[in-house]
Amino acid sequence: MSLKNKILQHLELNADSYISGQELAEKFGVSRNAVWKTINQIKNDGYIIESVRNKGYCLSAQSDVLSINKIQSLLSENAQNIKLFVYESLDSTNNEAKRMISNGFKDTALIIANEQTGGRGRLGRSFYSPKNTGIYMSFIIHPQLNIADAVSVTTAASVAVVKAIENLTDIKPLIKWVNDVYIGEKKACGILTEAVTDFETGCAQSVIIGIGINTTTESFPTEIADRAGSVNFGGLTRNELIAAVANEMTEICANLSDKSYIKDYRRHSLIIGKEIDFYINNEKQTASAVDIDDDGGLVVRLQSGEIKTLHSGEVTVRLAESN
Ligand code: BTN
Repeated sequence: MSLKNKILQHLELNADSYISGQELAEKFGVSRNAVWKTINQIKNDGYIIESVRNKGYCLSAQSDVLSINKIQSLLSENAQNIKLFVYESLDSTNNEAKRMISNGFKDTALIIANEQTGGRGRLGRSFYSPKNTGIYMSFIIHPQLNIADAVSVTTAASVAVVKAIENLTDIKPLIKWVNDVYIGEKKACGILTEAVTDFETGCAQSVIIGIGINTTTESFPTEIADRAGSVNFGGLTRNELIAAVANEMTEICANLSDKSYIKDYRRHSLIIGKEIDFYINNEKQTASAVDIDDDGGLVVRLQSGEIKTLHSGEVTVRLAESN
């Protein structure tokens, strides 16, 4: 490990307390001047380090730099087996996950990027992923589920995100079916799940759960500016939210078959009880959203009174009628 990483790791493990230059120099067997130079390199990477005469250096908890060490230190015991990969820039963390799987990667992993140059969304859309202001990450899991059940992982992921946000903040996020997370009237998180199938068994050999959360993004491209928003959880860092989502995902995925997360999904539903529009065969339909079934399907009552369950697609909430 380089001196920079050693000092950074030590400061991270002792976050919010001061460590003298002398102590760091002795611990790592280098001169105080080498410590000072290394601290400056760490600052140049974007970390906020306070230096106080006669006290030393302190890594500010406000440093919002993605860090494997920090995320690892916040993972629960059950989540410790997740292999973490942090990149400054990727085309798409889902693409990187696919590349790893096709190269034979078999472990549980979380791939995180500080920016994505080709972030992908559902239905062939792109996902705006500017640097430093969002969380762009993909879990690789190997759940041995049939394809139908693999879909439930997406539902589970949206529950993991809302629970993580609630555990760390006073924010009350809601889920818009299928799996967009809203804060107020703005979408702050989208999820794109992709499965790599074993054709012989018909099972999802590996599932990639791509999660994009706008944390502090303030301006969005015009085409999404009216509906995109950010979590803006003052004082928290991306590392903390990433670890919290990973911890929740681990708990939910360990008990996927008991479907208990569906209760949490219903509790956070943005659309149950609302009038919605959706398309079937290019035809616009209007309905009332009645419930979420145990498979994450959306149960709707059509204007004709017929009850129908939607398993995929996209709905629009009719705000005028629902207010
Ligand atoms: C959507 O809202 O349509 C889904 C957006 C999913 C975005 C995430 S960001 C991390 C992962 N990598 C991608 O390219 N997409 C997902």
